[in-house]
Formats: sequence, structure tokens, C-alpha cells
Amino acid sequence: MARAHIITYGCQMNEYDTHLVESQLVALGMDMVDSPDHADLVLLNTCAVRGKPVDKVRTVLGLLRKEKQKRNLVVGMMGCLAQLEEGQQIARKFEVDVLIGPGAILDISKALENNQRFWSLQFKDELHDFIPPAPVDKLQAHLTIMRGCDHHCTYCIVPTTRGPQVSRHPDLIMKELDMLLAAGVQEVTLLGQNVNSYGIDQGKRVPGVPSFAELLRMVGSSGIRRVKFTTSHPMNFTEDVAQAMAETPAVCNYVHLPVQSGSNRVLRRMAREYTIEKYLEHIAAVKKWMPDVVLATDIIVGFSGETEEDFQQTMDLFDEVGYDQAYMFAYSARPGTPSYKHFDDMPREVKIERLKRLIDKQKEWALKKNAAFVGQDVEVLLRGDATDPSLLEGHTRGNHPTFVPKVPGYDKPGIYTVRISHSTPHSMFGNFVDAQGQVLLPVKASAANA
Ligand code: 5AD
Ligand code: SF4
Repeated sequence: MARAHIITYGCQMNEYDTHLVESQLVALGMDMVDSPDHADLVLLNTCAVRGKPVDKVRTVLGLLRKEKQKRNLVVGMMGCLAQLEEGQQIARKFEVDVLIGPGAILDISKALENNQRFWSLQFKDELHDFIPPAPVDKLQAHLTIMRGCDHHCTYCIVPTTRGPQVSRHPDLIMKELDMLLAAGVQEVTLLGQNVNSYGIDQGKRVPGVPSFAELLRMVGSSGIRRVKFTTSHPMNFTEDVAQAMAETPAVCNYVHLPVQSGSNRVLRRMAREYTIEKYLEHIAAVKKWMPDVVLATDIIVGFSGETEEDFQQTMDLFDEVGYDQAYMFAYSARPGTPSYKHFDDMPREVKIERLKRLIDKQKEWALKKNAAFVGQDVEVLLRGDATDPSLLEGHTRGNHPTFVPKVPGYDKPGIYTVRISHSTPHSMFGNFVDAQGQVLLPVKASAANA
């Protein structure tokens, strides 16, 4: 049996697509293996959003090209980079055999049919209708509710790589959800570039497709324990989503609302289509409906033309909102984006220095926010063993990575109540709490031996 391995870069959409392609490969009789070393087929599911993941792909393809000289190996490239001229040049240089764009992933079987170089970049509509089999033995799963993006943020390559927005029909989503439930999945993350505009493709409401708020209520009443979603665009945020979240117990109190910058001037240059004032109104609505909401954001530091004053406004915004989590990036000028074409880049040192200051600020907030959980009982989905096998690892409803020592009877993946004992800016640590509210402390090996 031929063995295959997929290396995944980038976002959760890519993770979902990796799972989808894996299921296709398994259906073709291939065996998925954990390492590229012994695989006959190695696929790179690439990301093109910043220069760094592209550099990584170059390095790995260089190694794989050497490997190809030694043994029979098919190398493939999928994901966002595959859709770009930049990626196709890389593919030619490194003698990639199979190249499939984000809309062409169902072509993987065709690609492997004959031993010829196969490139496919066309978006195939049947992808929207395709329901991948549920993952095996997993408590968490992703579920794509839409593909593509209708926005044109000047820094972003995604509209080019993933095309215009297409919302999936709710019947398909609910069918896929039923399969996940039947397979024992307890937490689902609904995926889209911009879930808040679900059901409104290219500015038009799609017949038979509900709003995102209605979809959340539908998914939330399916019997699944936890519902999360990512990601939201503030431009399309509407208060009915916050209300649906608050009124649907399964939906987690976690909101990822990428702001990108605290300066209206920079937001205009980014073509984000909202002001900070508007953004803060959305945050206020979210906090009104869910006072205990966990807030996360994305920031691009050092966007073209960002002054020290603009950057200070981003720092001030962090103090105003008090984010629990933030994904912070230095601006990376990507060929093919409007800002690459029309704006100048700034010196790397300036970007890195600002990024460092923002990360320090965020650390202070995360430390403070996470410390507030110490002593509290929280619901944690523990997905399996941590690197240290005496611990289980997982996350809270607010996406805090959490670690818990195993105790007799509490050593398997599942959803548990955990009393938080201490925290850092990045993680929380705690102990199981039993049905009587008793904290279950691990018996120290030394004490057990005494
Ligand atoms: N440079 C840096 N970060 C970027 N992002 C998107 N494009 C770029 C870019 N050109 C960030 C944004 C987005 C996240 C997925 O990646 O913050 O929300
Ligand atoms: Fe995901 Fe964007 Fe990277 Fe594509 S470019 S993999 S959509 S993060």
C-alpha cells in the first residue's frame, strides 16, 4: 500500500482541507503516515499570507527534491501558495509533480491516476457539496460553512488565492454536523474567512441560506456540546450574532474579532471599511450580551505608512479593550496585493521593535486576564496526553490552553470540570473536580512510595 503524508501550514481552513484530502487519499487505498521520511507521496498544504510560511515551503521543497533523487517519491503542493504565480514558480524550480489550488483539492485522485505532472487551479463547484467523513477518535472538528472572501483588504492575498465568497447550504452543514456528532465529536469550529457575512455572497442574500446568527442557533441546538467559529470581519458584524451567542448555551463565549490596527488612518489604507469607533461599538455589544466573553484579535504592526502615533493608537486600543488573546504580526508585503503594488514597505527593524512592544503589552493583559481564573471551576475539553504523559492537555470554552494532571478514573480525553490552580499569559493549569465538587489532586510518586 502506498504511504502518504501531508504537511500543513497556515490557518484552520487549511487544516480542514488537509483532513478532506487525507480522506480522499485513504479512499484511494493509501495509508496516512506520521512522517514524510517513509512516505511515497508528500503533499505540502501551503499558506501565502506572509513571507515566512512561503520561505518554509521553499526550504522543505528543497529537501524533498534531494530526497527524490534517492528514491521514488511524489511531491505535491496544495493550498493558497499553489494558486499564485509565485507558488507556481517555486513548484517549477523544485520539480513539484502535483499542484492543486484551494478550489481544486477534489482533483487529488485524478492527479494520482497516472504518473504524469498534474496541475489544477480551477475552482470546482462540487467542493461546496462535498462532505468529508468525520475524523476518527477526535473530540474536536472543523466544519467549513463558506469558502473565499469578498473583501479587498489591501494587505491580503486571500481573495486572490481563495476567490469570491460562496456560502454552503445549511442542509449540507447540518448533515456534516450530524456525522460529526455520530462520530463522537463534542466541539465544532465553524470556519469561514468572514463568518459574519454568511448567507450574503457578493452583497446578495443567497436564497434558502439563513443569517449567521440563525445558523449558530441551528448548530447550537443539534446536541453538540460546544460551538466555536472563526473568523469575523468587524465590517459585517451584527448584534444579532452576539445575542444568538448569549442565548445558545452550546455556543462558546469566545469572540475573535480581528481589528488589525488602532488607527483610523491605517484602517483606511488597509481598506478595512470600519472605524475604531464602530469597532468599539461592536465590542460594547458583545460585552453587553456576554459580560464574561473572552476576546481575541489579529493585529498587523508596521503596515505601510504607519507612524509612531498610529502605532500608539493600537497600543491604546489594547488598554481600552483588554484582549485576552491576540495574534500579532509584522506586516509582510505580499506580491499580488494592492499594498505591495501601491505602498512602500518600512524598515524591518521598525516593525520588529513595534511588534515587540505590542507583544509585551499583550502579555501583561493576558497575565492579568488569565490570573482572574485562578480558583475558579471551568469546563475544559481535554483532547489527549500532553508532551508530559502524566498530564492531559486541552482548552477551555475561551480557547485557553489548559493542562491537568491525570488521577485514577480521570485519565481519558473528554469534557471535564477543572479548578484552575495557576496560570501564565499563555496557559492555565488545574485539577479535576469530581461530581461532589471535590478537587482531585494527583498523588505524588514520592508520597505513593512512602
Ligand atoms: N502581513 C502580515 N500579516 C497579515 N495578515 C494577513 N495578511 C498579512 C500580511 N500581508 C494577518 C492578518 C489576518 C491574519 C490571518 O494574518 O492579521 O487577520
Ligand atoms: Fe489560510 Fe490565509 Fe494562509 Fe490561505 S493565506 S492558508 S486562507 S491564512
